[in-house]
Amino acid sequence: MGKIIAIANQKGGVGKTTTAVNLAACISAAEHSTLLVDTDPQANATSGSGIETNEDGRSVYECIIGARDASEVIVQTQIPYFSILPSHINLVGVEVELVEADNREYKMKELLAPIKERYEFIIIDCPPSLGLLTLNALTAADSVVIPVQCEYYALEGLSKLLNTINIVKKHHNPGLDIEGVLLTMYDSHLRLSKLIVHEVQKYFGSKVFKTIVARNVRLSEAPSFGQPIILYDAVSTGARNYMKLANEILKNNHKVIR
Ligand SMILES: Nc1ncnc2c1ncn2[C@@H]1O[C@H](COP(=O)(O)OP(=O)(O)OP(=O)(O)O)[C@@H](O)[C@H]1O
Ligand SMILES: [Mg+2]
Repeated sequence: MGKIIAIANQKGGVGKTTTAVNLAACISAAEHSTLLVDTDPQANATSGSGIETNEDGRSVYECIIGARDASEVIVQTQIPYFSILPSHINLVGVEVELVEADNREYKMKELLAPIKERYEFIIIDCPPSLGLLTLNALTAADSVVIPVQCEYYALEGLSKLLNTINIVKKHHNPGLDIEGVLLTMYDSHLRLSKLIVHEVQKYFGSKVFKTIVARNVRLSEAPSFGQPIILYDAVSTGARNYMKLANEILKNNHKVIR
């Protein structure tokens, strides 16, 4: 059974894509077949995984509008067990195009259904909004990872996200669970970082991952080389942090692992 995990937070630049790419790569490195689905028109997860966006109509956009099957579009990355359903800037129009479509929140769930069993984990990178693409991801997902940046206003907007998760649970996906809240870009030199960790732990309790991702320049360099951190610099703090996160999630999901 493939477990579907959405990485969501409508706030921009909190580490969603960095987490999606590196979590997928680290779970794959542990030899669990993983599919990364890029639902952001910016296609950062696609390029960050070393896959070029192409112009031949093979992207998640065509799958969502029903023009292609996911299996025609999925590509293997340079890491064994790690495949990706790439995005394309065309996806930017999908919210408008689907405005009158039936079951428009269910397009992601429908396109993943025939391929779900081929993977142990499916990780969905969401765009920075609570629009139709994020709703589709939350409707398709078994659980959601919420990255929170250790910065001013970290908690701002989270009640809106939690409210959206509850609405999706009520109307579309009763089984949706919070996989965990992930603290990102932690800076041990900053008192503020420690304060945010404390605040988030107070608010979310045991839902906060034990793993905290530190601010690490290697993590920000890796995407421009089209490499997940474990390829770009396997001994960096970023690589160690994301391997630890992958292990924590694998441990919490030992029942779904083959
Ligand atoms: N732990 C980290 N240390 C240093 N830089 C990081 C870290 N995590 C992310 N970054 C950098 O911060 C920026 C934002 O990260 P990322 O793209 O993952 O966020 P996002 O939530 O996906 O953004 P968006 O909302 O625009 O999709 C990127 O330049 C990324 O390389
Ligand atoms: Mg992103």
